[in-house]
Amino acid sequence: MGFYSQELVEEIRSRSDIVDVISGYIKLQRKGSGYVCVCPFHNDHNPSMNVNRPRQMYYCFSCGAGGDVFRFVMDYENLSFPEAVKVLADRAGIALPEREESREEREQRDLKDRILEVNKLAAQFYYYMLRQPEGRQAHEYLTGRGLSQETIRSFGLGCSGKRGNELYQYLKSKGYPDSLLKESGLMNADEKRGMYDRFWNRVMFPIMDTRSRVIGFGGRVMGDAKPKYLNSPETRAFDKSRNLYGLHLAKASRKPNMILCEGYMDVIALHQAGFNQAVASLGTAFTQQQSVILKRYTNEVLLTYDSDDAGVRAAARAIPILKDAGLRARVINMEPYKDPDEFIRALGAEEFQKRIDSAESSFFFELRILERNYDLKDPESKTAFFREVSGKLLEFEAGIERNNYIEATAARYHLSTEQLRKLVSQTGERLGGMPRAAAPKPPPGRKKPDDMEPAAQRLLLGWMSADEKHFRSISRYVEPEDFTDPLCRKAVELLKEQTEAGMFQPASLYQYFTEEEDQKKLSAALGAQLPSLGGRTEEEKALQETILRVKQQSIAWQTENMEPGDMDTLMKIVRKRREIEKLHISLD
Ligand code: GTP
Ligand code: MN
Repeated sequence: MGFYSQELVEEIRSRSDIVDVISGYIKLQRKGSGYVCVCPFHNDHNPSMNVNRPRQMYYCFSCGAGGDVFRFVMDYENLSFPEAVKVLADRAGIALPEREESREEREQRDLKDRILEVNKLAAQFYYYMLRQPEGRQAHEYLTGRGLSQETIRSFGLGCSGKRGNELYQYLKSKGYPDSLLKESGLMNADEKRGMYDRFWNRVMFPIMDTRSRVIGFGGRVMGDAKPKYLNSPETRAFDKSRNLYGLHLAKASRKPNMILCEGYMDVIALHQAGFNQAVASLGTAFTQQQSVILKRYTNEVLLTYDSDDAGVRAAARAIPILKDAGLRARVINMEPYKDPDEFIRALGAEEFQKRIDSAESSFFFELRILERNYDLKDPESKTAFFREVSGKLLEFEAGIERNNYIEATAARYHLSTEQLRKLVSQTGERLGGMPRAAAPKPPPGRKKPDDMEPAAQRLLLGWMSADEKHFRSISRYVEPEDFTDPLCRKAVELLKEQTEAGMFQPASLYQYFTEEEDQKKLSAALGAQLPSLGGRTEEEKALQETILRVKQQSIAWQTENMEPGDMDTLMKIVRKRREIEKLHISLD
């Protein structure tokens, strides 16, 4: 923080209504006086996330994610605080102060930003090179692979120079220090040659994040040399497990599914053919984080991995990951071609659409792979196979879906539905009567029960932050010192200052707690749903109990931590005890 003034941050906050902002990313439903949605921060189907307009905050009751509008944008878009400020300022039409950066500030600025800046220049440089006489071969390579000028432009394709130091020279001429260029992953360094370009004589594919910022590159040789592709290493700006090639375009495709393939060229060929929902992982295996990101944009993923053995194995590994994220998966058959690029060049978009329409459910794809381990002509092996199939059928929740799959499986292997159903329930009993699809795993970062102690304090903080009226009436009975939990105490102190300054704004508390752990705790407190109470007297009674608990905790703490013989504190404790006995809360 510190980069923008607090007034400016508050101004941006006041013009970034949290309901409006979040509904720009995910669908919100009205519920009672508030809004709920499916939490984008863990795998879920249920609307466990609450968005609270009066408090200008969100909170997920399932995974504990929560915060103010800045936190949401930071977590959703994977941004730093200053970046989130910029996004919301742009959205609200608020101009951020343009300042000349001092040398010091420039050095201080987040390394990630500076790598992004260098990456952008590099992408422009490669793009320019493709249009120079030196880039003719690369240009011909791309058009030779069927790419149109429009496609080359929209993916920002380029090429690196033939000497192997062109980019280095260019970036040096712009004044970037070696240390930064090394961090960017665009350069190699060794004793003999010093610094030189990582990529030379390659066709260059810039890799973009969902906000179309260049985070890294892939480079392909134009012939048969090895390695065929060279990718940027991971840097502060490039996390291969959390990004997908083509997603910046695919996320706006408005298609009922996403197509997941293996190669950059596959993504590009698919987009050019009109399948602009295609994405690829970044030269590494598909990850759980990538599946959670895809779930934000779709419910169904179509796999178009290479039809060779390696591709089939990769698809088989991706399927359970997709399922865990709550995605449906189907597998596109590209036979007799190797990958979607080759398929489309040979048969065209219409044929590919037919393959999409007839894509196989991931269940049957998995069965076909399973079959290879058994000899279905051998009765014993065949029985073992069906036992394993029954185990997989048990992964579907009991009910219509499992029944449909039992019927379809029986038909496929010429069994009677009854026979298979019986085998499935036998297998179920053998596995302990439990369906194998376990209850959803608790999302990471879920609240642990170990912090029960400050529960009353957090509940009280929640009450006090409900609105200014509550804060004022409850403050008559409680002091910040009554809170033993440091976070609650600090929060109440801040709310008190705010009230005295005439600007009660609980959401701005997030600025004072920069640790993620603290922000979570704060969200748990501010997001706590107060018991829905029958009426004023009910509420006062509940409040009275909570205040009593908090004060008793505070007395217990003080007694325990008191120096023996400290009469002042002892007197205070005695006075407090007496006060508690007489405490009678009224919300007037
Ligand atoms: P084309 O041959 O140009 O059609 O490539 P492709 O897109 O069909 O690629 P392929 O299926 O051979 O590989 C899929 C992806 O794996 C590529 O897009 C790269 O990200 C990655 N990859 C392929 N070859 C290499 C390699 O030699 N080294 C590294 N690091 N990654 C590779
Ligand atoms: Mn290919």
